[in-house]
Amino acid sequence: MDDNNNTKILVLVGSLRKDSINRSLAQVAAVNAPAGVEVGLYAGLELLPFYNEDIDVEPVPAEVVRLREAVGDADAVLISTPEYNGTIPAVLKNAIDWLSRPYGAGAITRKPVGVLGAALAQFGGKWSHDDTSRSVGIAGGRVVEDIELHLPIGRLEGRPVTDVPEVVEQLRQAVAVLAAATAEVSA
Ligand SMILES: Cc1cc2nc3c(=O)[nH]c(=O)nc-3n(C[C@H](O)[C@H](O)[C@H](O)COP(=O)(O)O)c2cc1C
Repeated sequence: MDDNNNTKILVLVGSLRKDSINRSLAQVAAVNAPAGVEVGLYAGLELLPFYNEDIDVEPVPAEVVRLREAVGDADAVLISTPEYNGTIPAVLKNAIDWLSRPYGAGAITRKPVGVLGAALAQFGGKWSHDDTSRSVGIAGGRVVEDIELHLPIGRLEGRPVTDVPEVVEQLRQAVAVLAAATAEVSA
């Protein structure tokens, strides 16, 4: 919760591309969030060093502290990711690894996490989303299974996400479901 009692959702985007469709899904989810829900995108996943137990000691790298604090501060995490070679992009997996430690007490522990996204292939990144969900679950997060949006990019027909009402509605729903899951956790 923030100072206004809003539910805070932090989005991790699995693509670093300037014109990333997954980032635009996250932005549309943020703009269309229901009242009382604040959605913010995490910037700078590429600044994290590769996970290495040798550097996961005090003083922990500043970018790792920043990520852990941002996730720790959020009520829930939304992941919007493409699929790379049939699985989760490395930049996202690296972030999950950092969030999984200290073992049993990582910033993602017991945090509700929703996974969605878009990819070129016909199943819209389902393998990546399944692998992301498995990894998040093992890392200690609580995957909200009711959130399922694997958008085959062709469905956009070259239009911006904002021009495809059914996708905007699916994103709004995903945020609502994730926010409701945070209420269950704190109840
Ligand atoms: C290295 C690489 C691997 C990819 N592998 C897959 C894949 O396995 N399945 C798929 O659907 N799309 C794959 N793609 C295509 C991405 O889905 C597509 O580039 C997508 O737009 C990336 O998301 P973004 O727009 O958020 O950057 C791959 C793209 C790259 C660059």
